[in-house]
Amino acid sequence: MSRAVELVDQLKALEAEALEEVARQEDAEGLESIRISYLGRKDGRISGILRGLGGLDPSERPRVGAEANRVKGSLQEALERREERLAADEEAGGAKVDLTLPARQEWVGGRHPVTRVVDELVEIFRGLGFTRARGPEAESEWYNFVALNTPLDHPAADEQDTLYLKGGYLLRSHTSPVQVRVMENHKPPIRVLAPGMVYRRDSYDATHTPAFAQLEGLVVDEGITFVDFKATLAEFARRYFGRGARVRFRPSFFPFTEPSAEVDVKRVVHRPDGSTEESDWLEIMGAGMVDPAVLESAGIDSERYTGFAFGMGPGRIGMLKYGIPDLRLYLDNDVRFLRQFAGR
Ligand code: PHE
Repeated sequence: MSRAVELVDQLKALEAEALEEVARQEDAEGLESIRISYLGRKDGRISGILRGLGGLDPSERPRVGAEANRVKGSLQEALERREERLAADEEAGGAKVDLTLPARQEWVGGRHPVTRVVDELVEIFRGLGFTRARGPEAESEWYNFVALNTPLDHPAADEQDTLYLKGGYLLRSHTSPVQVRVMENHKPPIRVLAPGMVYRRDSYDATHTPAFAQLEGLVVDEGITFVDFKATLAEFARRYFGRGARVRFRPSFFPFTEPSAEVDVKRVVHRPDGSTEESDWLEIMGAGMVDPAVLESAGIDSERYTGFAFGMGPGRIGMLKYGIPDLRLYLDNDVRFLRQFAGR
C-alpha cells in the first residue's frame, strides 16, 4: 500500500472515531477538548498525521491534503451541530428529547362535575321560566342574615359557623342573600335561580366541605301558594332524576321561610340487568314559603305578594345522580375521577 493511501485511511479512521466522541459528548467543555485534541494546530491528531506529508512524493501530497481538509470540515461541522443541540436541550430545561417514546394521549378538558350539575339544573329551571341571578361571595351581615329575618345572635351567625371578613363582611354562608338583592331590584313576578359558592367554618369529610356550591331559587308573585311550591319542585325532580323520581317534604325551620321544609328525593335506579330499584331518600335542599318579613325588608308588599324559595346543593345532587360516595372527590383534582365526566 502506498504511503499516501495509508495516510488517507488513517484520516478516515480518525474521522469516524472523532464523530463518535462528539455524539457522546454531553457538555460544551467536552466538545472543546475534542476540538483541541483533533484539530489543534500544534498537538492535534490531524496535524500529527499531516506531519507525515513531508515524506511523500510531491505528486501524492494534494490528495492527502484534500482528505485532511475534508475531515477537518466534517469534524468542525459535527462539533457545531452538537453544541447547538446541547444548548437547545438546556433551554428546554435539560430535558432530553426521546423521539422513540409513545406520543402523549390527547387530553381534552371538560367542565367540572359540579359545574355540569349546575348547568343541567339551570337548564331545567329555565324550561320552567326561571332566569339566572347572581350576588357577591363577600357579603354583608345585612344581606346574609338580617334581611333574611335572622338576628345576628342567631346560631347561624356565630363565629363558629361563619367565615368573617373585616368591616362587617363575611363569606356568604348561603346563596339566600341573592333573594334579597333580586327583590330589591326587581318587581314581581320574580322567578330566578342563583348558583354560586358558599362558605362555612365546616369540617372536611365525606359529606362536608368548607366551600361548596349552592343553587338558590326564588319565586314571588301574586297568588303563589304551597301547591305551586310543591308542584314546581316535584316537576324539577322528575325532569332531573327521571320519571319515577319522588319528592318528600319534611317539616323544618329556616328564619326566612314559613312554613319551611327539607326536601328529599328518591329515584329509580336502573340496574345493568334491566331490573330497577329505588334509591334511599336523600336530602337535596332546604326550602319554604318566603317569610313575609323577608318580603317587607326587601320592599315588597307582603299583603299582595307571596312566594317560595329553595336552596339546593349541586354537589349532593351529583352524588345521588352519579353515585359519588364522597364530596372530597370533587376537590381532590384527581383526573381519574374528573375525566369520567369529561364527555357528559
Ligand atoms: N339557605 C338555606 C341553607 O343554606 C337553604 C334554604 C334556601 C332554605 C331557601 C329555605 C329557602 O341551608
